[in-house]
Amino acid sequence: MCGIIGYTGPNDACPVLLSGLSQLEYRGYDSDGLAVRDQEGGIRILKKTGKVAGLEALCAAAPPWGTCGIGHTRWATHGGVTDENAHPHTYGRVTLIHNGIIENYHDLIERFDLQNLVSETDSEVAAAVFDHFYAQKKDPYEAIQHGVAQLTGSFAFCILFSDIPEKIFAIRNVSPMVASFTPEGSYIASDLTALIRYTDRYFIVPEYHILTMSPREIRIQDLHGHRREPEWLTVTWTVESAQKGGYPHFMLKEIHEEPEALRRTISPRITDGLPDFSGDGVHDDIFRGCQKISIIACGTAMHAGMVAKTMIEPMMRIPVTVSIASEFRYEEPLVDESTLVIVISQSGETIDTLEALRLARRCHARTLAVVNVKGSTIARECDNVIYTHAGPEIAVASSKAYSVQLAALYLIGCKLGLVNAKLSVREARAFIRHLQEAIPAVEKVLENAGVIKKAAEETLLTATDAFYIGRGLDYTLAIEGALKIKEISYIHSEAYAAGELKHGTIALITEGVPVVAFSTQHRVMSKTLSNIREVKARGARVILLSRRRDITDAEVFDELIELPDLDDMFMVFPVAAVQQLLAYYTSAGRGLDVDKPRNLAKSVTVE
Ligand code: M6R
Repeated sequence: MCGIIGYTGPNDACPVLLSGLSQLEYRGYDSDGLAVRDQEGGIRILKKTGKVAGLEALCAAAPPWGTCGIGHTRWATHGGVTDENAHPHTYGRVTLIHNGIIENYHDLIERFDLQNLVSETDSEVAAAVFDHFYAQKKDPYEAIQHGVAQLTGSFAFCILFSDIPEKIFAIRNVSPMVASFTPEGSYIASDLTALIRYTDRYFIVPEYHILTMSPREIRIQDLHGHRREPEWLTVTWTVESAQKGGYPHFMLKEIHEEPEALRRTISPRITDGLPDFSGDGVHDDIFRGCQKISIIACGTAMHAGMVAKTMIEPMMRIPVTVSIASEFRYEEPLVDESTLVIVISQSGETIDTLEALRLARRCHARTLAVVNVKGSTIARECDNVIYTHAGPEIAVASSKAYSVQLAALYLIGCKLGLVNAKLSVREARAFIRHLQEAIPAVEKVLENAGVIKKAAEETLLTATDAFYIGRGLDYTLAIEGALKIKEISYIHSEAYAAGELKHGTIALITEGVPVVAFSTQHRVMSKTLSNIREVKARGARVILLSRRRDITDAEVFDELIELPDLDDMFMVFPVAAVQQLLAYYTSAGRGLDVDKPRNLAKSVTVE
């Protein structure tokens, strides 16, 4: 959710913090702030509501000069979007930034009799608790050690103590942080996007360890005072991959990166024409003989799971359930050692998905994570991991990450079929060939983006409501399409199984209401086309996604977006790109902030 950056070194801190914040802004953009220790030993704080550009202007007007500082970009949880609630927060000798939620902050206010709080945030309460123990113990390590023992919830803190120059202290539980030290100083951030311009070496800050960062080193100690060495990792992507590269928005760039991302995700996992996860260290045993598959995720990742269910269940003839992670956690799930639990997460940090994974592991399920971010918490905690290779996804709306999740799930589906003798070797090879053919099909969609732009401009731009309909795999895609357009263009959109409309929803179809219809599945095509005729007859303006050869009746659409021809099961790949572009062109055409839609944040680390 929030983004955190800290720097101490020989250089001016403010530019490092501002550039880090603009890289991290996708994590939350309600307000921003920074604290820089100035030459007189004081701490200068600048903060305000709005995006990083506003903070940059504040800094330009009166630059804070100093070589040690912390910066924060906020996604509001406790307390409204106000300047007072923006981070950093100061209480006594403590100035801090925080990502996460302190659940017991009400109790803490009473327990520590905190009467002088100036914000409504749980973060300021945490600052007060640290200050209380700092006054008592006179030692920053002990203040943090005793302070965190009081806190319930998730947190990543970077802390300055007013009488300790040059040093930043940090600690985390659940909320992510990575750090590095270089000849140019020590850096810490919520994620790598803020660090890659300074170094390609980093380590994941271990949970409940206190970091003491100075310009020359970072000391890591556990809560018993034992020192620990960092476990170094190397960044596998470049600075350019986290920049717009000439595109007007990250989302458009990321949609255009799909073919390459699909190649990177699929190709290394094919040996002799068959799926092979040995390079991932994932053995066939976890797929063998499972009696049930339970897929758990949130948002777009959960929609990828719905596609997987529709693809896997008829082939495997075992139950495949798809659960919203935040619901799964509070159910009494029917999951045991014969269940394969697949969790899907781009960020690998979504707290509900992480907690669902933990629950599945407690139930002794076999667990497999499909994750994009290397070394993320879900990747570290899951027994088996298949990384998607989308590279960094910066736009809040997921696009390429969804497509590669589908690719990984298709590889898993094929492997399940093969290992459990539901697919012959010949059938599995044909499956993989079809999957590979999906990549040029996506390229074709991107080459013809003009048609999609026109359809968006003529049908969706001024709409207030839209309906997405389809059957079978098309329905699962419609669900994702409806989410995509609502989150970035603010059009109220709903997805319906095409055959379900007449049971109520068709009452909402009146003259000119946009309906985005998907018809790629031959088994149900004539039925879907009948349902499209039903909405057309009531005045709907239909954008139809289909193959040209399947549409003989020009009456069923107002705009036809022609799809490349693939085996039905693999049509999801070009369709995904089309619906992402439809949402993109609608949002961009409405002049909205495509990459940072209101109220959202990229990685959801609160429950
Ligand atoms: O990082 P995750 O894949 O776990 O995130 C899950 C959802 O928050 C995410 O897919 C969200 O729905 C997308 N931003 C929607 O485009």
